[in-house]
Amino acid sequence: MAKVLVTGGAGFIGSFIVDELVKEGNEVVILDNLEPQVHQGNTPDYINNSAKFVKGSVLDFELFKKTVEDADVILHQAAMVGVGQSMYQVSRYSSANVIGTAYLLDILANEKHNVKKVLVAASMSSYGEGSYKCESCGIVSPPLRTEEQMKSKKWELICSCGKQLVPIPTPESKPLHPNSVYAITKQNQEQMVLTVCQAYGIPAVALRYFNVYGPRQSLSNPYTGVAAIFMSRIKNNNPPTIFENGGQSRDFVSVHDIVQANLLAMKSSAADYEVLNVGSGAQTTIKNVADTLIKLYGKEFVPQITSSFRKGDVRHCFADISKIKKLLNFEPKVSFEQGMQELIDWGSSQKSDDKVDQATQELRDKGLME
Ligand SMILES: NC(=O)c1ccc[n+]([C@@H]2O[C@H](COP(=O)([O-])OP(=O)(O)OC[C@H]3O[C@@H](n4cnc5c(N)ncnc54)[C@H](O)[C@@H]3O)[C@@H](O)[C@H]2O)c1
Repeated sequence: MAKVLVTGGAGFIGSFIVDELVKEGNEVVILDNLEPQVHQGNTPDYINNSAKFVKGSVLDFELFKKTVEDADVILHQAAMVGVGQSMYQVSRYSSANVIGTAYLLDILANEKHNVKKVLVAASMSSYGEGSYKCESCGIVSPPLRTEEQMKSKKWELICSCGKQLVPIPTPESKPLHPNSVYAITKQNQEQMVLTVCQAYGIPAVALRYFNVYGPRQSLSNPYTGVAAIFMSRIKNNNPPTIFENGGQSRDFVSVHDIVQANLLAMKSSAADYEVLNVGSGAQTTIKNVADTLIKLYGKEFVPQITSSFRKGDVRHCFADISKIKKLLNFEPKVSFEQGMQELIDWGSSQKSDDKVDQATQELRDKGLME
């Protein structure tokens, strides 16, 4: 049994990690400020009663210090999460994500504590575009598509030699090209944690989550989570709106598999000081997500393919999970269809405000969308 501090433990992913830690007999403390954009001013009813809930911010140094002092393990999940929004709320995202993590590391470096392990929630967004293969040039890590290319609706990536590229699973070794302030803060978080923890001999692991979905995802936060955004549209009788042509792809991983990865990394030393992808290993198009949800809801409408695009959006990125399989024996257990059904079953009892049009308009107003 360990004393575990989960920052952001009232959030979507953090709360499932808390449940599993409690189930396994750990003493768990949650530090979470109940960010209004995520929680709409409510304390979530799913918060585990067997965990101690401390309402507060990772930006409150003294409070953070008190919660760290008692912990053996820290699972740092707290963050502002929203790619588009981070591009016009730069200081807000930088403060919560970078300075919040810096406070944690200042505490570990300078204050008395017993921390023996730190896990940080990193993100696939740090990659920018995923890995690709060119039949002439081999494996390449291309830059983002230019605005000019996207305006001409040539959605797929072209190699510098002129041939069309084929997406392949992205390994941890791919160079990072974060394409938003959010992604930059996630890269900062993992690099700061690994660098400082290594210097002080505190085992640390950065888990690069891919597109996580599942129950408890905020259905009213239009800035994050494509499956939840589509669900909230469908529940409000609007067809999902899809950018580009819907052929862009990601790796959708169930929150339960993210929990599995955290528990494995916490208990084993095999991945200490490593970065690990956490995904399903499968490539799924955005149109497939919309079609699957519409089908499971038994609705008739077809997704609206808008051909609009978000500047700097990635075309394809899905995980190569061979490293986490090898080091931690991780095996994704929830299939895409099972996971989407679970999301829908949960969503039927949830209120969801469809604020997608408002969020899209914000991006347009800021010139971030065409
Ligand atoms: N959901 C995904 O697909 C995904 C993918 C990659 C990485 N991640 C990372 O996983 C972590 C959890 O994300 P999530 O999807 O559960 O998001 P979430 O918004 O549901 O959870 C984040 C939690 O952090 C809390 N929080 C925000 N700012 C805080 C602060 N200053 N102090 C204390 N608490 C604060 C929020 O109140 C919320 O409960 C984040 O670090 C995120 O960057 C998520």
